[in-house]
Amino acid sequence: MTSSRDAGGFWETTGAAKTFTHPLDPELLEEFVPLGARVLDYGCGYGRLTAELVGLGYRSVCGVDFSAALVERGRRAHPGVELLHCPGFPLPFEDAAFDAALLFAVLTCVTGDADQERIVGELGRLVRPGGVLYLSDVPLQSDPLNRERYERFAGRHGTYGVFETPDGGVFRHHPPQRLRELVGAAGFVVVQERQDIVGTLDGRTVGRLQLIARREPSAGA
Ligand SMILES: C[S@@+](CC[C@H](N)C(=O)[O-])C[C@H]1O[C@@H](n2cnc3c(N)ncnc32)[C@H](O)[C@@H]1O
Repeated sequence: MTSSRDAGGFWETTGAAKTFTHPLDPELLEEFVPLGARVLDYGCGYGRLTAELVGLGYRSVCGVDFSAALVERGRRAHPGVELLHCPGFPLPFEDAAFDAALLFAVLTCVTGDADQERIVGELGRLVRPGGVLYLSDVPLQSDPLNRERYERFAGRHGTYGVFETPDGGVFRHHPPQRLRELVGAAGFVVVQERQDIVGTLDGRTVGRLQLIARREPSAGA
């Protein structure tokens, strides 16, 4: 099934066969999210990190993804891990159903402002006041290859930082402030930031930004 947010079907075909590499920092997670927490892994892909959380001892973890192919792959790879195919919004959970949510390397695959805002806003609905959003994504890079492709595709996509890859993917790198503002607009307050270098889908490396953000206790209560 091809979602309207995946018009080319990339995440049902080529993208669904990729190996995802964007790493979780277990120490950072455990500092803010206790093992008994109910955790949502939004854009879980084939359940790589959902299964890692289970392996770390998290007892109540659910992964959701809009790609049927990736969820099927995840169910085969990780039987017993809760993975749901959720092609649209709202997600099938009540308000404040989760103590924490992961959003890992998802916004880099979502090129439109409104789609990004809808995703983070939905996590603002689902994470309880006082709960935690752990976001990790790719900021704008300063190397010549990335700067050249930001320039080349900015006109077609209308956003500096969006670029196409030869295999049909379309990705986005963000000004760090864009990521902070997205979580802030959804009712989260950033309480910690970390930057390091990680691998990408195409075997390169990029700088990445991790944000730990807490859902404001008063927001939406
Ligand atoms: C690079 S993968 C990361 C998967 C997983 N979080 C991980 O780190 O292993 C990006 C994920 O975002 C999902 N995705 C891509 N475009 C999306 C969109 N417009 N809305 C929601 N999810 C999307 C894909 O299906 C894919 O599972």
